[in-house]
Amino acid sequence: VCDSGDFATIDKYKPQDATTNPSLILAASKKPEYAKLIDNACAYGKKHGKDIDAQVDATLDNLLVQFGSEILKIVPGKVSTEVDARFSFDQKASIDKALHIIDLYKEIGIDKSRVLIKLASTWEGIKAAHVLQSEHGINCNLTLMFSITQAVAAAEAGAFLISPFVGRILDWYKASTKKDYAKEEDPGVKSVQAIFNYYKKYGYKTIVMGASFRNIGEITELAGCDYLTIAPNLLEQLYNSQDEVPQKLIGDQAQSLDIEKKSYLN
Ligand code: E4P
Repeated sequence: VCDSGDFATIDKYKPQDATTNPSLILAASKKPEYAKLIDNACAYGKKHGKDIDAQVDATLDNLLVQFGSEILKIVPGKVSTEVDARFSFDQKASIDKALHIIDLYKEIGIDKSRVLIKLASTWEGIKAAHVLQSEHGINCNLTLMFSITQAVAAAEAGAFLISPFVGRILDWYKASTKKDYAKEEDPGVKSVQAIFNYYKKYGYKTIVMGASFRNIGEITELAGCDYLTIAPNLLEQLYNSQDEVPQKLIGDQAQSLDIEKKSYLN
């Protein structure tokens, strides 16, 4: 899976799926060749927003969906489109925004089966995902995930996919301990391994997609995970790397994992 909003770059790596977020799309939209998409989004915002706040909101929604639809011309699978962080602690607003994004895709002929709605793994985001999955048949990608606690609740909510973050866990550990970590001790890698093994041991179908990588060592350590979403610069480094993929794949220890089944959602 390619983690980028820049569809020309995504095309170079021929991934199955792609993940975006508002920052990635903002970064991509600065390229002069995408100026037309910005113009379209601004025109859409002016037409659909009653006041300036509503115009900004409509412009952003349109931009996310325009980039998503361009990406879907390239990838055969799915694109993740994120409900932005303003709504992370509001279950109803997250659901309303997700339904609106799906409607915008529908207006341009894109079926919801090709879109994952990305929601923050807050309590409200996880509950929103539960409603979207069970009542609307909309698949969700629970992102900004930093712990097994969030992962357990996401699986209980029936989320289609989770994005546990590797790099941001490592960033936090490095900043708080002032230590560097070897790839096999990387706390972000260990967190994804624990989540993956827990899901496999207890038979959860939710897809585990490692995300937020800082180096290719973290990626090869997680070989065998269901999915990994990787930024173009790291895909390029992997392509040029002589590193061997480890023989021991993530998941080898799933059945012997010594961890009790937990429940947080009910
Ligand atoms: C994944 O879906 C996220 O968009 C991404 O991996 C976040 O990475 P970052 O921590 O580098 O922002």
